[in-house]
Amino acid sequence: MDSSLPNLIFASHNANKTQEIRALLRSHAVQSLADLDYNEDIAETGSTLAENAEIKAQTIFKKFGKPVFADDTGLIVPVLNGEPGVYSARYAGPNADAKANMEKLLKNLEGRSQREAYFETVICYINGEGKAHFFSGRVDGNILESERGKKGFGYDPIFQPEGEELSFAEMPAWQKNEMSHRARALSAFIRHLQAK
Ligand code: IMP
Repeated sequence: MDSSLPNLIFASHNANKTQEIRALLRSHAVQSLADLDYNEDIAETGSTLAENAEIKAQTIFKKFGKPVFADDTGLIVPVLNGEPGVYSARYAGPNADAKANMEKLLKNLEGRSQREAYFETVICYINGEGKAHFFSGRVDGNILESERGKKGFGYDPIFQPEGEELSFAEMPAWQKNEMSHRARALSAFIRHLQAK
């Protein structure tokens, strides 16, 4: 972490996401919750991605009083009324793993030809004055009939972005990161920081 850069806290316990964010957000030194020794779980009780992102960012802003951002992501399948959406991490139950979540989604789409879906990420940024700003990013695609590929995480093996031959789990990380929901939300956030 470069101490000459302005500091931003990323309100997440996820080490992989923190690494991805540090690689993309080079204009700031990003402190993770691990760096701050903050180990408490933040309950995601909101009913939208924006609410959950704001809950996480506000919790950490109240504790540390410094600029902070948090993200929340969902996979939205319109033919299933937006499921799994805000419940993407726990679609098949409170302790469900990625495999169980994918299996539930594939079962719910069994025999359906309409398989459009999109990932959406919402970032909530709370600046030094405590004002919240929101940024979002989205990638459209289709849910495959079965898993393909071993890379990535979550629903990556069953998501094929529009216009691509590979699923997210078949792509190298750099390729996914060029088009992903999270990268798009983050670049909107970075544009905001740079416009300051
Ligand atoms: P989070 O809000 O980033 O923790 O994401 C919630 C859930 O959405 C995760 O547990 C994953 O199941 C899913 N998810 C988020 N981002 C991705 C991604 O890039 N690929 C596949 N699944 C994802």
